[in-house]
Amino acid sequence: MNRDALVLEPDGKWSFGQAQVASNFDAHIENSVPLYRHSHDLICAFAEFFLSDGSLCYDLGCATGRLSARLAARHQQAAIKAIDIESRMIAHADATHCKALANVELLTADITQFEFVPADLMIACYTLQFIKPRLRATLLHKIYHGLHRGGALLLFEKVIAADAALQEMATLIHTNFKLAHGCPPEQVITKANSLRGVQQPLTASANKKLLRAAGFSRVFTVMKYLCFEGYLAIK
Ligand SMILES: C[S@@+](CC[C@H](N)C(=O)[O-])C[C@H]1O[C@@H](n2cnc3c(N)ncnc32)[C@H](O)[C@@H]1O
Repeated sequence: MNRDALVLEPDGKWSFGQAQVASNFDAHIENSVPLYRHSHDLICAFAEFFLSDGSLCYDLGCATGRLSARLAARHQQAAIKAIDIESRMIAHADATHCKALANVELLTADITQFEFVPADLMIACYTLQFIKPRLRATLLHKIYHGLHRGGALLLFEKVIAADAALQEMATLIHTNFKLAHGCPPEQVITKANSLRGVQQPLTASANKKLLRAAGFSRVFTVMKYLCFEGYLAIK
């Protein structure tokens, strides 16, 4: 069990740009998101079907670049563009996971403002939930148009349940998951408060509706555990 050392301001808003976040991120996300490593395993497994020599792949909201580094090591003739809005995340990725990987380009940028060049694969692993809901339709539209025909988006998201009773059970089980993985109880509460208005998950059906409205006609749920879901959307 990893002791989670993330420090939070008691009344502050959650920000991935805070000083300690990048260095604690890898341990923190594993202790907070069920099946986080499995999500990466699954994304890498699906990437095999979309990446080949000369391919371009975007990792949107790459954080510390752990997934980008895995993809880059496996697909050495593909180019991985790893984007994050927080320069501290990009600096951490550059100094750690992505160090010395020639086929990863790390970019500090806002994905809602980014002009994509045609790619075979786009990945948004627990990123879209941090984009304002009113911007998501336009972003997904841009992602769709940034993909080659036959290309795909792998979207992993925290979701909210369609039913309040299920949501209550899922929240409690998730809270117990975090406590069992070493997150201090006061941090679980402080983080939940700080995420209000910052992390805004939608229901699974709202996510699928957005993907279809963006143009994706083939949308598959490839992972589901409590309120954590992964979708493969093919252009
Ligand atoms: C939960 S983390 C993503 C985890 C990462 N994809 C992984 O698989 O380990 C969310 C990331 O999205 C980034 N982010 C949030 N809004 C963004 C935006 N508008 N443009 C680019 N990155 C953004 C945050 O800075 C943060 O690093």
